[in-house]
Amino acid sequence: MALIRLAREADAARIADIYVETWRSTYVGTVPDRVLINMSTERQQGYWTRAVRLDGEIVCVAEDDADGIVAVGSAGPNRARSGTYAGEVYTLYVHPDHQNRGIGERLLMHVFVELQARHLTSAIIWVLASNPSRFFYEAMGGKRVGEREEKMWGTKLREIAYGWPDLAAGLRIGRGTN
Ligand SMILES: CC(C)(COP(=O)(O)OP(=O)(O)OC[C@H]1O[C@@H](n2cnc3c(N)ncnc32)[C@H](O)[C@@H]1OP(=O)(O)O)[C@@H](O)C(=O)NCCC(=O)NCCS
Repeated sequence: MALIRLAREADAARIADIYVETWRSTYVGTVPDRVLINMSTERQQGYWTRAVRLDGEIVCVAEDDADGIVAVGSAGPNRARSGTYAGEVYTLYVHPDHQNRGIGERLLMHVFVELQARHLTSAIIWVLASNPSRFFYEAMGGKRVGEREEKMWGTKLREIAYGWPDLAAGLRIGRGTN
């Protein structure tokens, strides 16, 4: 069973690999090919090294006995500032070879615990409407609370928000709490 823990700086290279591989498998046909092709693990490593160092940002990983780090989740204060949700889950990615084994759920619940430890007691996540993974958040007790159209890479993409107004209640709904 994978261990869920806070990330360390030394994890940044492996997190970058997971991030790039999962993006490519998830967003093919949605995100322009050139964006996926041009993704760089070096740039991602730099980004994740900074994210792990930042006080305000939570970065959690799932570490498998055989394959090492196989999933990453990040969160922190709501970037919108104005919303009713104090916290925001920025990313949650499980490597395609390790999906559907309960890792995403355990990782999300761990991220919720870390948000609450920082007094962020509610959370939102924005997901591309075309991404079937969004139904995962419904399965995790998230309620559909918003919709927006964002211009990304020259294309208009629809995003849907899922919210947990009370993370303590969200944790009770979740089946694995770590
Ligand atoms: C979405 C994601 C994080 C889920 O993680 P996971 O480890 O595959 O999911 P889990 O095995 O923990 O699933 C937990 C529950 O959610 C359900 N679930 C998972 N993915 C689902 C989906 N796409 N639609 C509906 N339910 C889903 C599972 O069936 C399971 O419920 P059950 O225990 O009743 O069977 C993972 O599949 C992923 O990284 N996908 C690609 C990247 C992505 O789109 N990330 C989200 C954008 S930020």
